[in-house]
Amino acid sequence: MTRDRTSTRVIAIDGPAASGKSSTAARLARRLGWAHLDSGALYRALTLAAVDRFGESPRSWSPAALVALAEELPVRLVLLGDEFQPEVAGVDVEAAIRDTRVTRHVSAVAALPEVRAWVNARQREAVRAHGGGVVVDGRDIGTVVFPDAPLKIFLVADPGERARRRLAQRGEAVDAAELARESALLAARDEADSTRAVAPLRPAPDAVPLDTTDLSLEQQVERIAALARERFPG
Ligand code: CDP
Repeated sequence: MTRDRTSTRVIAIDGPAASGKSSTAARLARRLGWAHLDSGALYRALTLAAVDRFGESPRSWSPAALVALAEELPVRLVLLGDEFQPEVAGVDVEAAIRDTRVTRHVSAVAALPEVRAWVNARQREAVRAHGGGVVVDGRDIGTVVFPDAPLKIFLVADPGERARRRLAQRGEAVDAAELARESALLAARDEADSTRAVAPLRPAPDAVPLDTTDLSLEQQVERIAALARERFPG
């Protein structure tokens, strides 16, 4: 089957934890009149469902049971306005999936090939059903999920700045001890995400790298919007 690359109206934004992917992707989508899909939200929603159903010992979770749980509840993405929102059993879980008990286990769940296949199928389905342009953010969007995306961005930022942003996002104190603790958590998740066997975090060969350490959210959105105007004329 030949695929027309220009017909894929997807912008892929990948990068490590707290590099600003989701906030950048959401604003960019609004600017372009596109929808936004945060793939991490689906991994997090499934992890939340697993913690609630099976308890907090992920080594005892079988991949088949996780996928069956996701289908049964169901865990899904629902388009609300221009945002795909995660739902578990019909309940909006956008806030609950940011909980530390989810963050602690999500990389273990995301390392399972069966889970990744299920999440990838849901993302492709959502984009196909939407039919319009979608900004998708995650770890493997440009490399695995939408390798034909005409615009791929790989966001990076200094680890200290990423920890500062994550604490500020949660409204927590940004003191030295908290920064060190948050940096260590981010580094552990980056290590797990970069070294896993399936779909490790890495830039696609044709991704545009963007270091956001010294950029404001508005500046990084503007840089990508300018590239989008070139790649998606009209
Ligand atoms: O906290 P942050 O916004 O950086 O992460 P997230 O985008 O919410 O993703 C949470 C976790 O899901 C990541 O640490 C990865 O383990 C996993 N993930 C993935 O493996 N592939 C994706 N496309 C998106 C997320």
